[in-house]
Amino acid sequence: MHNFYTIGLVGGGQMGEALIRGMIHSGLTAAGNIMVVEPDTERAAHLEREYGVRPLADAAALAASCPVLILAVKPQIMDKVLGAYRKHLTGDHLVISIAAGIPIRTLEKGLGSDKRIVRVMPNTPALVLAGASALSPNSRATAADMATVRRIFSAVGMCVEVSEPLLDAVTGLSGSGPGYVFMFIEALIDGGVLAGLPRDTAEKLVLQTVYGAAKLAIESGEPAAVLKGRVTSPGGTTITGLQVLEESGFRGAIMTAVEAAADKSRELGQ
Ligand SMILES: NC(=O)c1ccc[n+]([C@@H]2O[C@H](COP(=O)([O-])OP(=O)(O)OC[C@H]3O[C@@H](n4cnc5c(N)ncnc54)[C@H](OP(=O)(O)O)[C@@H]3O)[C@@H](O)[C@H]2O)c1
Repeated sequence: MHNFYTIGLVGGGQMGEALIRGMIHSGLTAAGNIMVVEPDTERAAHLEREYGVRPLADAAALAASCPVLILAVKPQIMDKVLGAYRKHLTGDHLVISIAAGIPIRTLEKGLGSDKRIVRVMPNTPALVLAGASALSPNSRATAADMATVRRIFSAVGMCVEVSEPLLDAVTGLSGSGPGYVFMFIEALIDGGVLAGLPRDTAEKLVLQTVYGAAKLAIESGEPAAVLKGRVTSPGGTTITGLQVLEESGFRGAIMTAVEAAADKSRELGQ
């Protein structure tokens, strides 16, 4: 295991803040051991005030004090950031990138192919410490590096390891997934209103139902098909509703949506 209790964040935006919160909340490291380079001074002051993390001025300062660096900047500025960090990094650094769509080969090109790099695809529920992240190492990253990255991303939810080509599928599934679930939630609320419920009541019931169903599936460890079987009594209401969903192509629509989003991710990464 690394002595990675000093972690450097490049970019203290939404995801950067979620990681700070998760790392402190989980006891992974103390706030004073998290350093941030964030050009927006108000933002940097907010992070320092709110969490007690230490803003640093630039790449040189961050690389000098942190063996583990997390690149949490927008993909559009990644080239510039890689250029700024390259000369300050050594084989002793572990670099983690969460930038969507930036392949490991681009990170290696920018930082040097001798660097230990792990690419991560998180999702927005990381903001409430319930994210789902997929991790892919480059060939230089070690088992200890992966353990480090798993610990960091477990602090903002759960994580899995996949080979890099599968990150497009991950993007189409868990990356875009919250969007699909929000649409499902919205539709369920409208359904409740259609069935006669006041909108605010429908909303409360739907949010708890989706949250509760996911929690039940996670905690019971039972396959979704088994759980579904348990709530469909013969000739009952649930099987009646499910029949309508099947006839409307619900399952196929969702499968095709994930496939299309994964294809899109692949296309954007070209
Ligand atoms: N949000 C998600 O759900 C999600 C999911 C998967 C992956 N990601 C990836 O996570 C990364 C960060 O996303 P985000 O939503 O956190 O974006 P964000 O809120 O825009 O955060 C990026 C931060 O980096 C700062 N920054 C800009 N240039 C910098 C530099 N040279 N050095 C250090 N910091 C710099 C920005 O400051 P300024 O505002 O001053 O420019 C901003 O505060 C993206 O690459 C995205 O693809 C996000």
